[in-house]
Amino acid sequence: MTTSATAAAPASGYGAVQAAAIDDPERFWSQAAKAIDWIAPPRQVFDPGLGAYGRWFVGGLTNVCHNAVDRHVDAGRGPQPAILYDSPVTGSQRTVTYAEMLAETRTLGAMLRDLGVEKGDRVVIYMPMVPEAVIAMLACARIGAVHSVVFGGFAAAELASRIDDARPKVVLAASCGVEPSRFVPYKPLLDRALAMARHKPDACVILQRPQMEAQLVAGRDHDWATLREKAAAGGRGVDCAPMGATDPLYILYTSGTTGKPKGVVRDTGGYMVALRWSMEGLYGVKPGEVFWSASDIGWVVGHSYIVYAPLITGCTSVLYEGKPVGTPDAGAFWRVIEDYKVSALFTAPTALRAIKKEDPNGRLIGGYDLSSLRTLFLAGERADPDTVLWAGDKLGVPVIDHWWQTETGWAIAGNPVGLGLMPVKPGSTGVPMPGYQIDILDEGGHPVADGKMGSIAIKLPLPPGCLPTLWRQEERFVESYLTEFPGYYKTADAGFRDADGYLFIMGRTDDIINVAGHRLSTGGMEEVLAGHPDVAECAVIGMHDELKGEVPCGFVVLKSGVERSPAAIEAEIVALVRERIGPVAAFRIAITVARLPKTRSGKILRGTMKKIADAAPWNMPATIDDPAVLDEIATVLKQRGHVKPSNVKPATKPSAA
Ligand code: COA
Ligand code: AMP
Repeated sequence: MTTSATAAAPASGYGAVQAAAIDDPERFWSQAAKAIDWIAPPRQVFDPGLGAYGRWFVGGLTNVCHNAVDRHVDAGRGPQPAILYDSPVTGSQRTVTYAEMLAETRTLGAMLRDLGVEKGDRVVIYMPMVPEAVIAMLACARIGAVHSVVFGGFAAAELASRIDDARPKVVLAASCGVEPSRFVPYKPLLDRALAMARHKPDACVILQRPQMEAQLVAGRDHDWATLREKAAAGGRGVDCAPMGATDPLYILYTSGTTGKPKGVVRDTGGYMVALRWSMEGLYGVKPGEVFWSASDIGWVVGHSYIVYAPLITGCTSVLYEGKPVGTPDAGAFWRVIEDYKVSALFTAPTALRAIKKEDPNGRLIGGYDLSSLRTLFLAGERADPDTVLWAGDKLGVPVIDHWWQTETGWAIAGNPVGLGLMPVKPGSTGVPMPGYQIDILDEGGHPVADGKMGSIAIKLPLPPGCLPTLWRQEERFVESYLTEFPGYYKTADAGFRDADGYLFIMGRTDDIINVAGHRLSTGGMEEVLAGHPDVAECAVIGMHDELKGEVPCGFVVLKSGVERSPAAIEAEIVALVRERIGPVAAFRIAITVARLPKTRSGKILRGTMKKIADAAPWNMPATIDDPAVLDEIATVLKQRGHVKPSNVKPATKPSAA
């Protein structure tokens, strides 16, 4: 099904662009690289002999902060807003022009240098959605420090594990975050993380927010405003450091299949080239226009499309510290679009589902002038066709689902608005973006026919912008992504391609789940559950949820002899996940069972449990040890109200499925 709104669209230039990128990738990307300022041009566009699968723009010297800030000021964009900060949770708004961004990144760069931060050193940024967080990222890029932003919804233990892995010289943090219902005490969380971590940074610089000021630790903590005033008063500022195109710009930790997060490394040159191409080619947004990615700087979408891509392009980026609903109502997004004349909005489907739930008829939409909005982009989780169609109908603009991962840094597939919109197919994430050659593979690694489900794999080399490796874990990188299907990058997503070349992403092939657009590891949660003293064994599955897409559900078997009430233990387990992983895990369902369904070789049948919970059709696994256990799971889910009774299938005859 395609939407009629797009049927009359002029022919897209996509075919020719994709063919050019496949036929001669080096030529294609060297053309794209002309949109970037280089201190020294790359010696080689792509060197297949370097790294795990080759490296882009080898020998090039450049600087990301120069490309995102300085050169726009040089070109006369100084008075243009770089950042429009809008914070309904604190009732404040602030504009940071390109000229101010230049001054602020120069100053913060000098502050970091004074604290001993040199090129290649890591800086952890643990901050909410405030302008200083963006300034911090750019200041690191300016001096060649590698930043690692940690999302505020993670607990102290998660922050500690990132600190131990990245080993930062300095941590930049805020005293608190502001959620609609509470303040999030970032500084106490940081103190606890530092107490847990083996690595101790030399210094922490704390941005005191008036909502909740923090106690500073003498000798380690510095007050951000005091250091800034001192540096600014002394006229201190640093110029951009020349960086190799293959030098790391940042490390962004993402969930892997175990509790230990993966440090996705982003390079400098390839990332800029890919992002710059995407702003016009994919998003159809030009320099000077207003782009709004309603995500968080703690996620990859925030890195790429709140900070780097819009600023490298000379756009104005909206930095929104609020929610789609409740700050104050389901019209919040439309108010921001009207206030700032946003050209393109990028958000997660869950945000639209939240709005649709509160304002199903789109009554609030009619109250705002949305004439500036040309396109709505969705990513982060599967966009259900109902939501896509609802948004298209109510907003009257194309709704473009596009698919990507923290690892890739930009879209793998989408609908290239800037090349001419192609027909929109709700449920599909569009066609591969330039440089991505995608195959759908069967278990043996052979391409399957159109329309058939399989593992989605990207032919090597990956295009510019994608991860070259994992931070200090090259072996894990090769093993996780490059080994199962030789010659390919394994996305760990499953799906199919239709006869028109459109991709449909249906779910993960590993134990990653997607909760309200947040990527989480059920394996990581199982490690927490297994750590409870009364738990003998456990399994965590992602259960379908109307609003958040998926929510985690933990099943626990208690140790024999435990006499405490299961309800009390379940409450402790819920609290433990919040304490160890963080509120973002949205772990609220723990269920005690007598036993878990397993194969005869002892493998827990999580996939079948998920199908039962989702009321999806399922077959009795032929290798099941005791089919009755699945009945027990279905019954307990039904009793707890987590599955519609009419949909529970009896666990009867075994099949070979
Ligand atoms: N700092 C601290 N805590 C945070 C946080 C942050 N930056 N972001 C979320 N949390 C907390 C929330 O307060 C909530 O805590 P609670 O259990 O005390 O209520 C918990 O983490 C779960 O948050 P979330 O899953 O976001 O649920 P929600 O009910 O607060 O909001 C939505 C629901 C749909 C409005 C919200 O999830 C949303 O806007 N999602 C979009 C996600 C997104 O943009 N993802 C990026 C990919 S493009
Ligand atoms: P993250 O690394 O947090 O961006 O999460 C990446 C994962 O989110 C992907 O591997 C997919 O499973 C899922 N995802 C992201 N975008 C989409 C999309 N448009 N449709 C379906 N799944 C998506």
